[in-house]
Amino acid sequence: MRIKTAVFSGSSVKVGGKPSLRLPEFAFIGRSNVGKSSLINMLTGHGSLAKTSQTPGKTQLVNHFLINDKWYLVDLPGYGYARLPDKDRARLRHIIWDYINNSEDLVMLFVLIDSRHDMQEVDLRFISELGEKGIPFGIIFTKGDKQGTTVLEAQVARNKERLLQDWEELPPCFVSSSVNGLGKEEILNYIGSVLQAL
Ligand code: GTP
Ligand code: MG
Repeated sequence: MRIKTAVFSGSSVKVGGKPSLRLPEFAFIGRSNVGKSSLINMLTGHGSLAKTSQTPGKTQLVNHFLINDKWYLVDLPGYGYARLPDKDRARLRHIIWDYINNSEDLVMLFVLIDSRHDMQEVDLRFISELGEKGIPFGIIFTKGDKQGTTVLEAQVARNKERLLQDWEELPPCFVSSSVNGLGKEEILNYIGSVLQAL
C-alpha cells in the first residue's frame, strides 16, 4: 500500500474527543522512547508529522493522523516511563486504556519493542492485558538500524521465543527502522491487507 496523504486530525485525552469522522484505526503503543512517533513519520514519509524527542514522555495525548482519507494511524503516549511521577504515569495509563477499551474503530494495536533489548516486565504485562481483553495486536521491533543483522536477528528470535512461552502462536511480527526505512513496505502492506478484509 502507498500512503498518498497523511494529515494530523487532532489530539484527545478521552475517546469522546477523537475526530468525529469515524474510520478504521491502527494504533502504536510501547514504552516511552521506543520510537512510536518516529515510526509514524517514517511510514507516512512526513518527517515531522508526529512530534519526536530524545527525552522519553514526549507524546502525552492520543494523536490521530488521517491516511489517504480512509483510515487513521494513531500515536499513543508511551507506557512504563519509570522517571515520571506516579500521578503522571497514572494519567497516561488512564488515557491509553480509555482509548484501547473504548475506541470502537480500533482495528489493531502494534506494540513496539526496542530490537536491541529483551522485552521487559512492563511489556509482557501490557501484552498479556491485551490478550485478556481480546484486543488484536502485532509486534514491531524498532531501531533495527542500531545493530548488525546477525545480532539483530538473534535478539528478535529471543523475543519471539519469549512470546511463545505465553502464546500458542506468534502475533504478526515486524522489524523496523525509522532511520533507513526497514519494514515500511511490510507494515503498510500488512495494514492494507487487514483493511481489505474488513
Ligand atoms: P514517547 O512519545 O516519549 O513515548 O516516545 P516515542 O516512542 O514516540 O519515541 P520517538 O519516536 O519520539 O523516538 C525517541 C528517540 O528515538 C528519538 O531520539 C528518535 O530519533 C529515536 N529513534 C526512533 N526510532 C528510531 C530508529 O528506528 N532508529 C534510530 N537510530 N533512532 C530512532
Ligand atoms: Mg511519541
